[in-house]
Amino acid sequence: MTSQSTIRRVPALSPRASSLDWDTHHGPVRNRRRLIPAWEQRAAYDLLGIGPGERAVDLGCGVGHWTRVLAGWGLEVTGYDFSEVALTYAREGDVERQARYVDWDIDGEATPSGIVPGSVDLVTCRLSLEYLDSARLLHEVRRWLTPGRGRFYALVRIDAGEAAGRPGLLQRSLTRRQIDGLGLEWGARAEFRMRGLVGLMLHTPAA
Ligand SMILES: C[S@@+](CC[C@H](N)C(=O)[O-])C[C@H]1O[C@@H](n2cnc3c(N)ncnc32)[C@H](O)[C@@H]1O
Repeated sequence: MTSQSTIRRVPALSPRASSLDWDTHHGPVRNRRRLIPAWEQRAAYDLLGIGPGERAVDLGCGVGHWTRVLAGWGLEVTGYDFSEVALTYAREGDVERQARYVDWDIDGEATPSGIVPGSVDLVTCRLSLEYLDSARLLHEVRRWLTPGRGRFYALVRIDAGEAAGRPGLLQRSLTRRQIDGLGLEWGARAEFRMRGLVGLMLHTPAA
């Protein structure tokens, strides 16, 4: 028989965050001010190898800071997110109308018609892959990418031991093992690691 005193409370993995959870998160100004640091922009730019006129999709774009960095590098980019609040701020913040922002529940709804298979040069997931069904998504992303040229870039939080699975909305992280398991069947992969983050790039196999 198990007595009450012997039952240990184990922090549960947080359930899937809803679009309403994210609406609440994106509301306060302080949560919308997190710009993309210069070191990260430099590291990502070196990894991405951007060509002129390339087409990009930014998944889980939030209020669009990263989406606009991509647009500033000359990419024709569409950001997708399921938080209406985030998308409203993304559109308002894009005074030069550099990008498009579209409502989509990436795990829960069919791929939007705007994403034409075989036509996307770059798909990015900045600090959002941790919240998505990564195996299913990567399978889909390969279909969207241009053969031979297309690539996938994600910036993910890597767990520091027990931080993995902590319940806070912004605390989600992947383990080293989970990251190593991403895109094993892709053509090539590259990484940078900095300050608890991993930048991961996957290339489609040569055409
Ligand atoms: C930590 S924020 C990152 C936002 C942005 N990429 C950035 O780097 O500032 C994660 C984003 O993923 C979005 N997200 C989470 N699950 C999603 C889903 N199933 N479909 C669409 N967007 C989702 C959230 O709404 C949130 O804006």
